[in-house]
Amino acid sequence: MSELPSIRWGIITTGLISQWFVEDLVLDRPDAKVNHIIQAIGSSALEKGNQFAAKYCPQSSPTIYGSYEEVYNDPAVDVVYIGTPHSFHKQNCLDAIRAGKPILCEKAFTLNAAEAREVLAAAAEKNVYVHEAMWLRHRPLVHELRRLLHEEKVIGDVFRTFADFALNLDIPSLPPTSRYRDPALGAGSLLDIGIYSLTWAMLTLDPGSPASSELPRISASQTHLHGVEVTSSVLLKYASSGRQGIVTSTTMQPVDPVHIAQIQGTKGYINVEGPTPSMPLSFTVYERVGGGSSAKTVEKKYDFPRIGRGYFYEADNTALDILAGKKENALMPWSETIRVMEIMDEIRRQGGTKYAVDG
Ligand SMILES: NC(=O)c1ccc[n+]([C@@H]2O[C@H](COP(=O)([O-])OP(=O)(O)OC[C@H]3O[C@@H](n4cnc5c(N)ncnc54)[C@H](OP(=O)(O)O)[C@@H]3O)[C@@H](O)[C@H]2O)c1
Repeated sequence: MSELPSIRWGIITTGLISQWFVEDLVLDRPDAKVNHIIQAIGSSALEKGNQFAAKYCPQSSPTIYGSYEEVYNDPAVDVVYIGTPHSFHKQNCLDAIRAGKPILCEKAFTLNAAEAREVLAAAAEKNVYVHEAMWLRHRPLVHELRRLLHEEKVIGDVFRTFADFALNLDIPSLPPTSRYRDPALGAGSLLDIGIYSLTWAMLTLDPGSPASSELPRISASQTHLHGVEVTSSVLLKYASSGRQGIVTSTTMQPVDPVHIAQIQGTKGYINVEGPTPSMPLSFTVYERVGGGSSAKTVEKKYDFPRIGRGYFYEADNTALDILAGKKENALMPWSETIRVMEIMDEIRRQGGTKYAVDG
């Protein structure tokens, strides 16, 4: 570990995602590219911070703060990780930027594209690193899948992708303060999980790099329960290629389905497999070979090891960016964060989901 470069993290919140993220940061990995140090934890309550540190990073001795601001202003912190509900991301990012701290901020980056533009304009002005934590884009599985699709063209010309994320959240049973139930906290399936379905479609239909990707045309429908969007169905169409994405999400699915994505091409299709669409662990290529009566389908499975949950891929890349003096991440540049937020704005406009900040 000692010859690796080190980075000192300030973790904002003791919530679920902060727990998962920190568990991965402290994993002992022989192929780690960076030594991740949990330097500070900021929480609404000191006691929560102490309990979090004892449970999730017992070997570290982070400084515990009863506020987020103290983390932003701690000179020993190199980068802050923001794990608040989406509705707080804009303010948390602006506060960290004001303190000059590099940021890895959870998805959805903000509630709408206007908020994202405001944050990124402030980051540009202050020359501060900002990166939306869309961890899926950092997984080796995704890179290999895109290479096979867009460079090797193993299934010929891709024409369609189906992608779904379904959960059972039983919204009516949740307390009104839950981030899944309160629209003021950004409740709704699209920003929480539909963003993954959208990402699968964008990555598999558009061969361009994130910095040069195309804005697809959108047709969308959404359903609401108790004022919360619970099901989204979206058609994406890329004008330059005619490729289509069928992108869905729901929080009403009573049993766990394991449908992530199917990508279809002129010579075959690929199924992506794993426990959730955010955690793919394998994919299988079904390729049609031969013609006429001798045509057959050849199957090849690509397995990727399960190590922790896989948040360290984005953490390593964030650390390497910051250590190299970069201001954006190449896999999730600012333009792509804005594009994703613009697509979700349009889906919500057509689907009738409005947040108070939309005006
Ligand atoms: N990448 C992923 O796989 C993934 C997975 C789950 C969630 N997420 C994202 O991470 C963010 C947080 O989700 P989560 O599931 O971790 O949420 P959570 O468990 O509810 O935790 C959110 C934390 O934010 C802080 N907070 C501050 N004000 C709050 C308020 N008014 N209501 C609730 N919490 C407040 C609290 O921490 P303190 O009291 O310690 O300050 C709370 O524990 C969301 O944007 C979500 O989309 C990402």
